[in-house]
Amino acid sequence: MPLLGVNIDHVATLRQARRGREPDPVHAAVVAESAGADGITVHLREDRRHIQDRDVQVLRQMVATRLNLEMSVSPEIRDFALRVVPDQVTLVPERREEITTEGGLDVITHQQRVAECCSALLDAGILVSLFIDPDETQIRRSLDFGVQAVELHTGAYADAAPGRVREEQLRRLQTAAELTCSLGLILNLGHGLDYRNVQPVAALPGAHELNIGHSIISRAVFVGLDQAVREMKALIST
Ligand code: PXP
Repeated sequence: MPLLGVNIDHVATLRQARRGREPDPVHAAVVAESAGADGITVHLREDRRHIQDRDVQVLRQMVATRLNLEMSVSPEIRDFALRVVPDQVTLVPERREEITTEGGLDVITHQQRVAECCSALLDAGILVSLFIDPDETQIRRSLDFGVQAVELHTGAYADAAPGRVREEQLRRLQTAAELTCSLGLILNLGHGLDYRNVQPVAALPGAHELNIGHSIISRAVFVGLDQAVREMKALIST
């Protein structure tokens, strides 16, 4: 059964709505961990729209499981990561006008920048994962950077209507998952996973970790974060 990484960006989004102190994503991390989260994920965006530098620094001290920092390949953010040294960095594409991360990182088009960023992070002893589409070429080319892991983008699966189209997307994920494992890469998956669609993804052979944010924080509004994490953990564990 896969591990659960809880993405707490949306707690910071709520705080930034008033530019105040609450709710504090650090508090969310403590609650999520005590409810069974295996890791805490945050995305430090170049525009700092939700998570702030201070959050990552305090989380580095507080997180008892594993801190996974999602970030772009920008040199400014890379240098920040090298100072904080999270347990893991997941490299993601970033466009300022997007609402959330829209597609996987294209490791072929951005080969040079990805390579430079990966080598600096790997030299610092940080585990590096590349957030890519479930595409054979992207997976094979990920090996060139010496990274240990990839995170397959599950957005197309999550967005597909239940039925034939979703089944096709699940088969696509399955093929990509098999290739990832056969190449010796750690297999993470995430984006758009929720309480209804998560189980087939959790059941993919070799799935190491699922990173889930929006659905857990949305449910937490009604049932509390502790229960929301426990329910997701139970779903991916069956
Ligand atoms: N994985 C990656 C790489 C992401 O960028 C995101 C969104 O920040 C997630 C997982 C979580 O996606 P969601 O919030 O849709 O669960």
